[in-house]
Amino acid sequence: MTEARGRASALVTGASRGIGLGIAEMLARRGTALTITARDGERLADVAGHLRELGAPEVVSVAGDLADSALPDVLGKRHAEAFGDLGCLVLNAGVGTAAPIGDLPEARLDKTLAVNLRAPVLLLQRLLPLLRAADRARVVVLSSISGVYAEPGLAAYGATKAALNSLVETLNAEESGNGVSATAIAPGYVDTDMSAWTHDRIPPDEMIPVSDVVTLVEALVSLSAQSVVPRILITRAGTSGFEA
Ligand SMILES: NC(=O)c1ccc[n+]([C@@H]2O[C@H](COP(=O)([O-])OP(=O)(O)OC[C@H]3O[C@@H](n4cnc5c(N)ncnc54)[C@H](OP(=O)(O)O)[C@@H]3O)[C@@H](O)[C@H]2O)c1
Repeated sequence: MTEARGRASALVTGASRGIGLGIAEMLARRGTALTITARDGERLADVAGHLRELGAPEVVSVAGDLADSALPDVLGKRHAEAFGDLGCLVLNAGVGTAAPIGDLPEARLDKTLAVNLRAPVLLLQRLLPLLRAADRARVVVLSSISGVYAEPGLAAYGATKAALNSLVETLNAEESGNGVSATAIAPGYVDTDMSAWTHDRIPPDEMIPVSDVVTLVEALVSLSAQSVVPRILITRAGTSGFEA
């Protein structure tokens, strides 16, 4: 156990790039001790140094693939050893896959289910005791607008995100009375590596900036335990509001 015990701490999955990195940077600036994870260990180590420079008193980095069902347990143990409790859990890592239902290969379906749905459930199971041990705890889950409104070609992805919306609501029903509440953030296309495949149709400057998602997450982590915000839908200007 380190000296960081007792201060606010957070765990962010997929913290090395995109939305997860933006959220980790915001938490670091607020002086939050962090556990971060992603597959690319070298990149993660660089990000850990950067987050310390921004103000995180301590950063534990754990490289691994969330398709591996053993990783949530490792993350839970490493975070507990370093910080004792957990004030903010950001379930951000996710994989995108696009194919019509009839053409979706089984291996891609399995990977999408494992990373986008099984891993968040396992992480919650492992981390709930640490979340309950904090004064108050906020869970932020990166869902998607395609988990709310159907998007052709995004069946598997959208189904996992719809499941996350439901998971958040159940978590709130079970745990918000114990000071642990959750929010599913469901944006349309955000300007990151994940959405780059659509640039022929949607230029980056028509996408939601990462900084806007981060601003909303900062508001969530600033709330008291009395307020529960089950879902935030972010639609893109210039669309019907029912599409990514
Ligand atoms: N971008 C969008 O348009 C958009 C819209 C709505 C919702 N979202 C959701 O927001 C979340 C973040 O998206 P993003 O756009 O920031 O994605 P991104 O730029 O592709 O970044 C994904 C992050 O997750 C990590 N990651 C990917 N696969 C992983 C795995 N199997 N195990 C562990 N870590 C993994 C990546 O690092 P490594 O590659 O090193 O593992 C990276 O840090 C996702 O859940 C996504 O579905 C995104």
